[in-house]
Amino acid sequence: MNVIEKLNWRYATKKFSTEKLPQDKVDTILEAATLTASSYGLQPWSIVVVNDPAVREQLVEHSWGQMQVKDASHLLVIARQSDMTPAHVEAYIDNIVNTRNIPADAVAGFKDTMLGTVNSLSAEDKALWMSKQAYIVLGNLLTVCATLDVDACPMEGFIPEKYDEILGLKEKGLASVLVLPIGIRAEDDSFQHMKKVRKSLEDTIVTI
Ligand SMILES: Cc1cc2nc3c(=O)[nH]c(=O)nc-3n(C[C@H](O)[C@H](O)[C@H](O)COP(=O)(O)O)c2cc1C
Repeated sequence: MNVIEKLNWRYATKKFSTEKLPQDKVDTILEAATLTASSYGLQPWSIVVVNDPAVREQLVEHSWGQMQVKDASHLLVIARQSDMTPAHVEAYIDNIVNTRNIPADAVAGFKDTMLGTVNSLSAEDKALWMSKQAYIVLGNLLTVCATLDVDACPMEGFIPEKYDEILGLKEKGLASVLVLPIGIRAEDDSFQHMKKVRKSLEDTIVTI
């Protein structure tokens, strides 16, 4: 696989075909999401898979009318946690201790560092911090999708409050950050033929 070829192949898909993605590809994409790096490893986000066609239709008007939300094979919403509390840190520490079979003492310092961070941030800064982690998931998934020949459209063009309301995310302790319809491009999506517009390497890479 040539990574650069794959990244040139992908584009922000505006029109999807009606073709459904095979479940094994969807499963790979979801598993790849969980393997995304996150600050301290806290993974303060969830991927919401919206399967109900009526709900997806309802979301279009809260997505600047972007039809990908309804038409793509699958609709993923990357949502951050509503809050990051000491209990989340405790749960993560328990996971480390159980997964690696190590004594809690071995990660006591790490836990204190995380609690220090969590306790020092305002609610607003915590929300921003968690949203940044959601963007890392998006970046990872865009590349993963490309390697699997799956089309995707990264989307900020939606009203998070409406999504949260319609999907009942608040009740789940979540807040939507990004939308990612995935599927197969429509043959007549003219955007696939457009040349990529990017700054030159010289303008983007600074070597010191
Ligand atoms: C965070 C983010 C939000 C975006 N939101 C939208 C969107 O709401 N609708 C859309 O059609 N494209 C959206 N895009 C796609 C960009 O416009 C696109 O990635 C950029 O123009 C580069 O083109 P390419 O991805 O086709 O190479 C978004 C991209 C990113 C990374």
